[in-house]
Amino acid sequence: MGAETAARISEEDHTLQRIAAELTDTNKMSFLAERPDGSIAGYAMAKMNEAGDVMLDRLHIDQSEYGTGLAANILHAVFAAHSGIPSIALEVLEGNDRAMAFYRKRFEVVDRRAASHGAEGHASLIMRKLLSRA
Ligand SMILES: CC(C)(COP(=O)(O)OP(=O)(O)OC[C@H]1O[C@@H](n2cnc3c(N)ncnc32)[C@H](O)[C@@H]1OP(=O)(O)O)[C@@H](O)C(=O)NCCC(=O)NCCS
Repeated sequence: MGAETAARISEEDHTLQRIAAELTDTNKMSFLAERPDGSIAGYAMAKMNEAGDVMLDRLHIDQSEYGTGLAANILHAVFAAHSGIPSIALEVLEGNDRAMAFYRKRFEVVDRRAASHGAEGHASLIMRKLLSRA
């Protein structure tokens, strides 16, 4: 989506107030990978809607951690925290090739949204991972 759009969305969606509110929202679960010095290496947030469906809303790791396995570790923590939930879905924008490759190894593609319906006017894929029931 380009650096400018990404920065704008981040400014709107990732404000301290919004993230602080999410931490107290019982329908949202946040996951943080913290280094010994207190800096943040990675972060994820999964949310449940009224029907009980869970979406992985965010999975971001620091660029210095790309390829280290940290993202997979955080994802496993997300899965483990949702044992008993049938599945977890996510939306990934076409063009985000790295994330697409990462998710394709772990999720099934279940739907495609055209640009007119995707986030920020981008086509996207909806993926789902079936979780075994506890
Ligand atoms: C998405 C994200 C969490 C994945 O973590 P990661 O450590 O980069 O993932 P990995 O390195 O384990 O896997 C990425 C795969 O994509 C491959 N890849 C890298 N660049 C690629 C590209 N341009 N095109 C296709 N594949 C690519 C890598 O080789 C790797 O495959 P491999 O495991 O077979 O070697 C991380 O890249 C990230 O935080 N991205 C920014 C935030 C983001 O886009 N989040 C997802 C929003 S839905």
